[in-house]
Amino acid sequence: MVEPIIRVADIAWIRLRSPDLDTQEAFLSDFGLVRAVRLNDKLFMRAADPSHHVHITEKGDPAVIAIAFRARSEDDLKKLAREASGASGVENLDEPGGGKRVRLTEYNGMGIEVVHGVETLTPLPIETRVLNAGYAKQARAGEFLRIGARPSQVKRMGHAVISTPHVEESVAWAHQHLGIVRSDDVHLDDDENELFASFNRVDDGDGFVDHHVMMFGRHASSGLNHVSYEVQDLDDLAAGHDYLKARHPDRHLWGIGRHTLGAQIFDYWQDPYGRLHEHWTDSDVLNNHSGYRRHKRSLGMRSQWGTQAPQAFRDAASR
Ligand SMILES: [Fe+2]
Repeated sequence: MVEPIIRVADIAWIRLRSPDLDTQEAFLSDFGLVRAVRLNDKLFMRAADPSHHVHITEKGDPAVIAIAFRARSEDDLKKLAREASGASGVENLDEPGGGKRVRLTEYNGMGIEVVHGVETLTPLPIETRVLNAGYAKQARAGEFLRIGARPSQVKRMGHAVISTPHVEESVAWAHQHLGIVRSDDVHLDDDENELFASFNRVDDGDGFVDHHVMMFGRHASSGLNHVSYEVQDLDDLAAGHDYLKARHPDRHLWGIGRHTLGAQIFDYWQDPYGRLHEHWTDSDVLNNHSGYRRHKRSLGMRSQWGTQAPQAFRDAASR
């Protein structure tokens, strides 16, 4: 493995394009994001955690513009601008939240932004009683659990998944430019050398991080398979499912279930322009001592419970 140019700290946001920002905002609000800033031609949505925004929509024909990652320092931005082929210089982010950015193009042609110094905001209030009480009888003695009809309380952005005919090359690019490392790989059942998918996490040394921040899945063409947002807990995910189902019954694609690799409880929704947005909770968390594994596709890509992936999920590759 080559030494990466930098090691990103986390995923930051997705930048999409949509013809109607009202329609986009209505869906994202029902999904559980909250407006941070709305301009004439751009929509910035935030989650409960302090990030200024975790989702940007620019006005125009539907498109996936870029996936953004947070750098650990401004020096890392400078290093990336200097050493990555095709990188932009370090630019000022001339939009709400500010900060600085380097733009790259990943192996499949998807835009990548690496950012630093973006403003943070006060966390949003959430129903912490549900959250932290757990289900221990002692912790909720004398209290009543009542969950109203409401969207999920999205916590943060968790990961992005790219569909690609070139899994191995895509993983190599992402390792070299973003410093992400393999957690689990999946190969075809009848050929150990044919990579089907690769789950990659942030490299934080001894620090524990989500099982994957970026995943690559084999597909005839390349594009965004989905973006994924962490919610508070299973109650929060299920309440959000009911809320979305009542308002957008035809936009539900897959879930609720629990993945095998990463082990997240998941629920997938299509936005008004067909881009997949996932809710998840309860990921495996790994560090550099967790090792790396390979699995057969028939085992690795299964749901531990819930339905298995529909064809429409496997076909998702938005450009
Ligand atoms: Fe996912």
